[in-house]
Order: sequence, then structure tokens, then C-alpha cells
Amino acid sequence: MTMRYLPDAGRLYGPDFARDPQAVYAALRHRHGAVAPVEIAPGIEAHLVIGYQAAVDVLTNAGGVWSKNGTDWQARLPGTPEAAAMVGMLGYRTNALYSDGVEHARYRKVITDCFSMIQPHKLRQTVIEVCDALIARFAAKGEADLAADFARAIPLRIFNRLLGRPDSDSDALIKALSDMMEADGEVGARGHDAFYRYIGELIQAKTASPGDDLTSWFLHHPAGLSTEEVLHHLVLVIAASYEPTASLISNALSRMVSDDRYYSSLANGALSTYDALLEALRAEPAMANYGPYFVRQPVHFHGTWIQPAELVLVSYAAANTEPTAVPEELRSDGGAYLGFGAGPHRCPASDPAMLIAMTAIERLTSHLCDLELTVPREELLWRPGPFHRSLAHLPVRFTPIRPDQPGESPWAVQPPSSSTPSEPTSPVRSAGYVTSAPWSS
Ligand code: HEM
Repeated sequence: MTMRYLPDAGRLYGPDFARDPQAVYAALRHRHGAVAPVEIAPGIEAHLVIGYQAAVDVLTNAGGVWSKNGTDWQARLPGTPEAAAMVGMLGYRTNALYSDGVEHARYRKVITDCFSMIQPHKLRQTVIEVCDALIARFAAKGEADLAADFARAIPLRIFNRLLGRPDSDSDALIKALSDMMEADGEVGARGHDAFYRYIGELIQAKTASPGDDLTSWFLHHPAGLSTEEVLHHLVLVIAASYEPTASLISNALSRMVSDDRYYSSLANGALSTYDALLEALRAEPAMANYGPYFVRQPVHFHGTWIQPAELVLVSYAAANTEPTAVPEELRSDGGAYLGFGAGPHRCPASDPAMLIAMTAIERLTSHLCDLELTVPREELLWRPGPFHRSLAHLPVRFTPIRPDQPGESPWAVQPPSSSTPSEPTSPVRSAGYVTSAPWSS
């Protein structure tokens, strides 16, 4: 089914959108109200849900007409490279994100049960070790790109451990995923192969010898997922944790280092790290427009007819910033608004994600307490693309600290690196005491 859009459909791609998406949302809101026609790539159309109440209606499946299954939409895509790129992000997979009802509940339970087995204090210790090792790489330089050198380097190092692999494997995972996501053609295909090889080897290793880790918990959950279902869920967990967690950290940090109310809190506390995270989730949610939904039958929805096989994207970013009469207490979710979604597909890992982001930022600011942006925040570059709100760079300067400096420093920890693999069961030396990797006790 072809959508017949107005010529003034908004464009969720290109430099103008990356520079100022809120201007695009405001213009769409003015012209179309709660649901607006957009192009997510040249020739690929969608309905963008930009009204807060409309977004909640989709996410909570009001009227029972909403589905996550987009196979009909996918089948009708043109055979263009742009369409192929969108299938990479939105293409159907046998996992929680793309399923409904009973099937979704089964997958969802596996995810929530397995994540509930991660002990917060052990996760926190892992974050500290990973972050200290990263900070030690640039602390003496007096400058860093906190997006590339810090935020984007954190989630996969943590998840590589949570999934049950030694630290020596994390660089391979990071390279595979960044090749897969950033590049086209040959490099992208190589990255794709390497990523699936990593997952395949992971499943093989944990089937043969289960451990105290997410992979083994997925494999042995009473729901009895098949090997293929486990594979798709490991892919989902890695992809769902990488980009949004990295962006949450850098989006919040960019506020803290450019706004005096946060800046002073690095030393004496006006607004906290937690406030910065909530503000980032509300005003600049990392999963800006990544809420794909479909209708089961034609629906007249907040003034727009929507047909089956048409893509509907919930814009968490536009809904959260809608100047609306919906009172604050009805849309708060603790201050994050829809930053973690809502309804049956609401992020099942928001607690560990917040713990990771909070610990990472506090670790950074406790070592480097005079971080300062090298350019005004308005001049920061954002990565292009319709789905995420993600900084390309976050350049900062600070007073360098040296390895021989007294006081607590990132060098107090043995950095996990490919040359010093720490097997899951081996002790990891940590600031002042010996502890074990999270799953070993
Ligand atoms: C620890 C890292 C994370 C993991 C493992 C994770 C995992 C997941 C998974 C498995 C889902 C699908 C749930 C379902 O369909 O039932 C999901 C959904 C979602 N996550 Fe997360 N997530 C993480 C971090 C984040 C962060 C940092 C954000 C926001 C900044 C975020 C925002 C969302 C949103 C908005 C959805 C709903 C998508 C939809 O409506 O289709 N997640 N997440």
C-alpha cells in the first residue's frame, strides 16, 4: 500500500534534521497536529507520532489495534539501497521488540528474569573498572572526545562481560558492531559476519559450559527458547544497550559540562548527575524516533487515517517536548517522560541502564572535576539519521592528572585490556580491594 503524503512531509535525514530536530518537530506540529507525514530516507515514508497523548495511545495499545509486526510493510519496500538500510534497523526478527501478545510476553519474561539476576553492586563495580580503564587512557592529556573515548566505549565492554566473555574479546565485539553500523558495502558485511560469529561462538561456549552470565541464563531459562531465539535476543540486547546507553551518557554529559547549574554541582552540588540524565531522557531521548508500530486494520488516529502495512514511528523526542496541556504528573515516569518508552514494550533494562550511566558519569567527574566543553554546546555535531539523538563528538578540556599524583586516580585500577585478559572467574584487582567479576560468586 502506498502512502499518499503531502508535499510538506518532514525529512528525518540530512544535516538540517541532525542540527535541529526540534525545529522540524515544531513545524510538523504546527502543520499537522499529533501525527505527521515524514520521510525517514529518500522515498521511505512513515507517520511520525509527535503528540504526547497520541504516543501514549500507541505505546499502550489503546483500542487493541497496534502491533509491532511490520512484515507486510517490509514486503512492500522498494528494492533501493535506502530501503535496504532501513531494513537493517526495522526489519522483522524473532525477538521481543517485534512481537505481540503471548509471544511477546514469553520473550519479555526471559529478558526481565535474566536481567533481574544481575546484582546492582556487581554491575556498578564492573562499570567502575571499565570506566577507570578508559579514563586512564586520556586523563594525562588534558583533553578528550567524551563521545568516542568514553561514552561509546562503555556499553559493549560491560555487556561483553555480562554475556560471559573475557575482556580480551571486547575489542573484537566493538570493531564488529561499529563496522556493521557505520560502514556500507564490504566493511559493513565483514562487520555483520564478525558480529554473528561472536554471538555464535558465545552460544556454543555457554551451551558446552554454562556460567553465571546473561547468555547462560537465556539458554537455560524455563521458557525454553530455541538456539535461534536466544541468538536473536542476544543480538537485541547488544544492539539495544549499545547506542542508547552511549547516547544517554554523552547527551547528559554535554548538559553537565555546558550548563552552570550542573557545572557547579561537579564541585558543590546544584543539580545532580541524576537530574542531567532525566533531562537528557526527557528533552533529548537517545531513542528519539525509534518506536516502530503498525496497525492491524485501517484506523482514524488523532486526525490521520493509518492503513495496515504503513510504518508508524513514535517520536519520543517530539512527544516529550510537546507544549501540551497534559499535566506534568501524568507524564512524568519519574521525570524521564517517554525516554524509556511506555506500555508493554517499555525498556526492560531502564534500571541497569540508569545505573551504568550514573556510575560512569560520576566516575568521570570524580576524577576530572573541571571538565569544560571546547566549543559552545550549540556547535556540537550530532550524528545524522532518523532514529537516534546521538553526539558525533563531545570535545572537552580539563586539568590533566598524572599516574604518580596522590589521591584516588583511574590508575588505581588495573585496566582491563586485550593484553591482560581477565577470565570471568579470575579475580580483578580493583581500587584498594580484591573483588571478582560480577557472576563468579
Ligand atoms: C542496559 C542497556 C539497555 C538494554 C539491555 C535495553 C534493552 C531493551 C529491550 C530488550 C527492549 C525491547 C523490549 C520489548 O520490546 O519488550 C528495549 C526497549 C526500549 N528501550 Fe532499552 N535497553 C537499554 C538501554 C536503553 C536506554 C539507555 C534507553 C533510552 C535512553 C532505552 C530506551 C528504550 C525504549 C524507548 C524502548 C521501547 C522501544 C519501543 O517502544 O519499541 N533503552 N530496550
